[in-house]
Amino acid sequence: TGNWTEVGALSEALKDQRVLVRGRSQTIRSVSKNMAFLVVREKGFTVQCVVTAIPDVVSRQMVKYVSGLSRESIVDVEGIVSVPKDAIKGATQQVEVQVRKLYCVNAALPTLPINVEDAARSEVEIDKALQAGEQLVRVNQDTRLNNRVIDMRTPANQGIFRIQCQVGTIFRQFLLSEGFVEIHTPKLIAGSSEGGAAVFKLDYKGQPACLAQSPQLHKQMAICGDFGRVFEIGPVFRAEDSYTHRHLCEFTGLDVEMEIKEHYFEVMDIVDRLFVAMFDSLNKNCEKQLEAIRKQYPFEPLKYLRNTLRLTFEEGVQMLKDAGVEVDPLGDLNTESERKLGQLVLEKYGTEFYILHRYPLVVRPFYTMPCYDNPAYSNSFDVFIRGEEIISGAQRVHVPEFLAERAQACGIDVKTISPYIDSFRYGAPPHGGFGVGLERVVMLFCGLNNIRKTSLFPRDPLRLAP
Ligand code: 4AD
Repeated sequence: TGNWTEVGALSEALKDQRVLVRGRSQTIRSVSKNMAFLVVREKGFTVQCVVTAIPDVVSRQMVKYVSGLSRESIVDVEGIVSVPKDAIKGATQQVEVQVRKLYCVNAALPTLPINVEDAARSEVEIDKALQAGEQLVRVNQDTRLNNRVIDMRTPANQGIFRIQCQVGTIFRQFLLSEGFVEIHTPKLIAGSSEGGAAVFKLDYKGQPACLAQSPQLHKQMAICGDFGRVFEIGPVFRAEDSYTHRHLCEFTGLDVEMEIKEHYFEVMDIVDRLFVAMFDSLNKNCEKQLEAIRKQYPFEPLKYLRNTLRLTFEEGVQMLKDAGVEVDPLGDLNTESERKLGQLVLEKYGTEFYILHRYPLVVRPFYTMPCYDNPAYSNSFDVFIRGEEIISGAQRVHVPEFLAERAQACGIDVKTISPYIDSFRYGAPPHGGFGVGLERVVMLFCGLNNIRKTSLFPRDPLRLAP
C-alpha cells in the first residue's frame, strides 16, 4: 500500500519528497539510452516524469522499457519531486518527478484513433503549429464523438463535465434549501407531454406509448398531490429533426414546479436567485475547470446582474423594432431575433443573462395560463444566456375544464392525458414552474458553439452510438 498523490496536486510544496502517482502515459520521448521523458496525465492534469539511468537505482533496461510504452497506458510512477529551473512546456504542473520505479498497470493499443494531445489543442495553437510546418491531425467533431472515451480525456472535456456535475449539484442544493422535494417521474408515458410531432413512439406491451418529452404532466400532478414545491433531474426525449448546434434528441432536463401564492413572478424569483447563485458558485469554485476549457475554447466570463433583468415580450419586440428588426408582435421569436435581442440587451443593460416574459399565448404549450388582463398574452417566460434560450417556464392552467379545452384547441387527444386532467378535478392550487436544458446551460455559460460538446454521449438525429 502506498500514499497516492494526484497529478493535479503535485507542486513545489512537495519538493524532494517521494510520491506515488497513477496516470496515463500521454507522451513518451526517448533522449538517449540513459534518459527518457514521460508526460503522465491524470484527470486532465499533466506532469513530466524524468527517467534517468542511475547505477543501482534505475537501470538502462528501465529507460528502454519506458521508451517503448504505448501512449494512454495506465502507469504507476514512484519518484522524487524536483523543481526545474525553466518553465515546463507541455505539462500543467510546474514540477517534475525523477522516476525511481515505474509499472505499467494496463497497456493501451500501440496506435489509437485519436491522439489526446492533438485533441486538446485550440484552433489558434493548431494554426500556429501548421504554419510552423508541424505534422498534426486536426481532430474533427465526428471523430471525437465516435471515440468519445479517448476524447473525454482532454483537459477541456474534463473541465466541461465537471462543470456539468456542478450545475446539477448547485441546482439540487439550492432547491433543497428552498424547501423543494426531489421527485422521479416516469419516462414511459401514454401520450405526448408537450404536444407536436417530436415524440418517440413505442409499443408498450401492445399499447401505444411514448418517451416523455418532459416531466411536465407528472410534476404538475405532484403539485396536485400536495408536495408544494418539487424538482427533477432526468432525461428528456425529443424526436425532432433538428440538425442544429443546440438540439439533441435526448438531453438532461432540470425541472421545477411550485405552488404560486399570488403571481407568476414568484417562479421567476426562483430562477433569478438560483442562477445568480449558480454562476457565482461556478466562477468561485470551478476556476481550474474553467481555465482548462478556456485554454482550448477561449471565452469571456458571462456578464450577469445581481438582480436578473426582466423584460416583457412587448418590450423585447419594441427594442427589436427600434433596431430595425421586424417581428410578429403575437408570434414567436426566431433564433436570429433572439440573438439580436441578446446583443441589444447586452448593449443597453450590460447583461448576457435575462428573462423575457408575457409571451403571446399562441406560441406556448396548451397548459400555459393566459394573462388575466389580456388573454392574447400568457403568464410565461423564457430565459436567455448569450442570446440563446436555456429555460422556458410559466404559470399553468389549474382549472380542469379550461385545461381540457386548451388541450383540445392545441390538437391534443384529451383521452391520452385524462389522468392528468382529472388530477385538477380533485382540487389543484395555482402553480407554475420551468424546465432547464442542462447541456445548454453548460454550453452557453462556457461560450461553446455546439451542444454536442456538453453532452457526454450525445444523441442527435444521426447519432445513436457510442
Ligand atoms: O422549452 P421546453 O420544450 O419546455 C418544456 O419542456 C416545458 N415543460 C418546461 C416547463 O416547465 N414549462 O424545454 C425546456 C428547456 C429549453 O429551454 C432548452 O434549454 C431545453 O429544455 N431543450 C433542449 N435542449 C437540448 N435539445 C433539445 N432538443 C431541447 N429542447 C429543449
